[in-house]
Amino acid sequence: PPSVLYDSHGRPLEYVRLAVTDRCNLRCFYCMPEEGITYVPRQELLSYEEMERVVSVLAGLGVRKVRLTGGEPFVRRGLLPFIERLGQIPGIHDISLTTNGVLTAPHVPELVRLGVRSVNLSLDTLDRARFLRITRRDELPQVLDTFYALLDAGIRVKLNAVVMDGQNIEDLVPLAELTRELPVSVRFIEEMPFNGGSHAAMLPWNHVRIRQHLEQHFGPLLPVPTAPGATATDYAVTGHAGHIGIIAAYSRTFCGTCNRIRITAEGGLKTCLYDQGVLDVRALLRGGATDEELRTALTQAFRYRAANGFEAEQRRPVHQLSFESMSTIGG
Ligand code: GTP
Ligand code: 5AD
Ligand code: SF4
Repeated sequence: PPSVLYDSHGRPLEYVRLAVTDRCNLRCFYCMPEEGITYVPRQELLSYEEMERVVSVLAGLGVRKVRLTGGEPFVRRGLLPFIERLGQIPGIHDISLTTNGVLTAPHVPELVRLGVRSVNLSLDTLDRARFLRITRRDELPQVLDTFYALLDAGIRVKLNAVVMDGQNIEDLVPLAELTRELPVSVRFIEEMPFNGGSHAAMLPWNHVRIRQHLEQHFGPLLPVPTAPGATATDYAVTGHAGHIGIIAAYSRTFCGTCNRIRITAEGGLKTCLYDQGVLDVRALLRGGATDEELRTALTQAFRYRAANGFEAEQRRPVHQLSFESMSTIGG
């Protein structure tokens, strides 16, 4: 296997997040305005062939894990054949998805066949009215179908719930209660302000407050070890089948072990969720770059990421995110 690439802070490149589309069938208010975003014209998106080529080059640099994101990955046609081809790339050992679950349930058997072992499912509430208010679509039953279909199929499920002041605080305990009987990870995510949303100097629900809130109900959350580079801090509750996770996406407590890059739907490389995009991979692909040239460009971009130190990443102003939709980056 190829040796792994390290950046100037000793962080490995192991994981690529690939946004396969910027389109979405929900309109979560923290991600998109009601009218949606101006979608990128088809020819400006990377084709599946182009994505496959990028992943092959990255696999040659030591990347082992691919997470498909969006937008909503299942709104792009041809997703499943693409997953199959990714699985044939030497070195790629782990393909997973982050999905909103609206269209996913019927595809679960095929995901099993393709060897997808883990799916992250976005679900901020178990209440139909609040689901409608948050996502502006009445699709909770479909998402729950996906949840149970994944569990029945033996696919590992991580539920992602963004914690939003005044929106779903009453959902935190019911969502976490799912871990009592089910072997799932329920992960609570600090909200990152987007779309010109208010840039409160202080996040009302940071990871510390989320933990305290849950401990009031469950008693002590007991930290369990996680893989290096994990976004979530995982906790066990005595007697529960699953785990509770907290993701400090805004406080960015995990930058020091960050092991991932992102490729946006338009083929931009981001070496940090909070950066502006450092390399136009699409231009290289379409400009006739050889694999060796791609390799060199990706290597350079990764080596020098966060040249000022990842402390700078942690301090990077969040307002830089606010003019873009999360759906073009893939979260
Ligand atoms: P695993 O591969 O299961 O570890 O998933 P993940 O937590 O990396 O990804 P997922 O798509 O489930 O995203 C969960 C939350 O973590 C989302 O809100 C992401 O925006 C956030 N997140 C993922 N990667 C990063 C990152 O590098 N930096 C920050 N600040 N947040 C991230
Ligand atoms: N803050 C935190 N998490 C977000 N996500 C989307 N937008 C935001 C935001 N503004 C989450 C989604 C999904 C993951 C990829 O990113 O809920 O689970
Ligand atoms: Fe919601 Fe995710 Fe769609 Fe954004 S991309 S609107 S967060 S489901």
